[in-house]
Amino acid sequence: MGFVLLMIGGILDNPPDILLFLGRFHPVVVHLPIGFLIMAILIQMAARWPKYKPLAIYTPIAWFMGAVSAVVAVIFGYFLSLSGDYDEDTLFYHQWAGIAVMFLSFGCYYINKKWNNSLSVPKWILVFLIGFLLMFTGHLGGNLTHGSTYLLQYAPNPVRNMAGLPSKMEPRKKVAVLDSADVFLDLVLPMMQSKCVSCHNEGKKKGGLMLTSYETMMLGGESDNTIVPGDALKSELVRRITLPMEHDDFMPSEGKLPLTDQEVVLIKWWIKMGAPSSGFVTQLDTEKSLSSLVSNYLGLDKNNLFNNKIPPPDRAVVDSLINRGFVINPLMKDNYFLDANYSLSEYTLKASDIDVLLGLKEHLVWLNLGNSKVKDGYLEKIGLLHNLVKLDLKGNEITDAGLKSLSQLENLESLNLYGTKVSKGILELVPKLTRLKTIYLWQTQVTKTDIIQLKKENPGLTIIYERE
Ligand code: HEC
Repeated sequence: MGFVLLMIGGILDNPPDILLFLGRFHPVVVHLPIGFLIMAILIQMAARWPKYKPLAIYTPIAWFMGAVSAVVAVIFGYFLSLSGDYDEDTLFYHQWAGIAVMFLSFGCYYINKKWNNSLSVPKWILVFLIGFLLMFTGHLGGNLTHGSTYLLQYAPNPVRNMAGLPSKMEPRKKVAVLDSADVFLDLVLPMMQSKCVSCHNEGKKKGGLMLTSYETMMLGGESDNTIVPGDALKSELVRRITLPMEHDDFMPSEGKLPLTDQEVVLIKWWIKMGAPSSGFVTQLDTEKSLSSLVSNYLGLDKNNLFNNKIPPPDRAVVDSLINRGFVINPLMKDNYFLDANYSLSEYTLKASDIDVLLGLKEHLVWLNLGNSKVKDGYLEKIGLLHNLVKLDLKGNEITDAGLKSLSQLENLESLNLYGTKVSKGILELVPKLTRLKTIYLWQTQVTKTDIIQLKKENPGLTIIYERE
């Protein structure tokens, strides 16, 4: 049976889908012979003890089930191999070792049935040979699916060295400051490692492409333009990662976790810069157009404001603000950062209230002035509250004229402008707020076109925007 199918293999250059479909069941089906055959071996051994002697009547049936399920596994395995996705050498040994297991198991069944207790030595040789081949086949099967480096990837170095593998590479230290970030080692390579190498490695070179190192990446794959240094748009790799996700050529295929927008921007930029094998981001990015994106991507923009210890606030200032209608709350237990909220006040906010706020310049990190009749003129002073991380200005009659004053808020991560009169001015403001992560622009005069531009220029930013 196996042979007949093997012969078809030569004939079938384009295997029909149904065979490929069945082939995908091989990894499941293959557990049946493994289970039955291990059971057969164990029964065979146990039955040598007088206590377990009665088990001996089950040996032939265990071998028979093992052998028959091996036939099914071999057939499905053969279908799977038709996809041509596997390393040929490993496949050759895996296939023939599997076929050998199948025939030897039938042999073992036959021996057990015919000669029960005689023929002892050859029988035991056969049993152990099957046991060994079973492990060998399974191991090669694992290599085929996961790549030959999979099993020992995390093994201790002595074990790796014994197997002829080099010692593990020291993992690259996490970048602590933007200046030390390397374009390939800290950006491109880790992306490939987490999202692409499972299919593009030594063992499984899909599309002829290996994405495990700089050299192999640049060798490219089946197309001769996998990566065209200096020209992102001509690079097949860029085409693949920017296609619509449902396109057949989209990478990563098979619904694997895709690259994020940020990652796509970074890869395109790397190729545009000539796809160098290394180089500091800050030196390549002379216009500093990407520094905030890269810091955000590498998690370097975590606000370290909160590591500063600040003195307790002036009690008189806090009391005065409370009397003026503010709700003031401490933000954390062991520090004096404060949250000030005016949005629930029944008074009307006055310019003098803002002057008092400035007395807590170091302490205020959250400020909610939602629906408080804030005027453009007030923003000039609010812009001086340089420790603000979150600023809520929703529902106020403020415009682009006022926005300008906010550009000094270097710690700002969240800015709520919902229901204000701001418009194009945000396009100028946002790039200056380097830590900004979220901006609310719903029901403002910002147009859809502005939003598209904002998104394009600030891929790391979350924009909350919707229009009836
Ligand atoms: C689930 C497996 C899988 C993953 C994960 C995967 N690929 Fe692929 N890739 C394939 C297969 C299969 C092919 C060959 C078939 C084809 O051309 O579409 C291929 C082909 C390619 C090619 C074409 C090679 C050439 O030079 O013509 C490129 C480029 C590529 N992949 C890039 C990537 C990138 C980048 C990632 C990570 C974002 C990735 N792949 C992740 C399976 C995968």
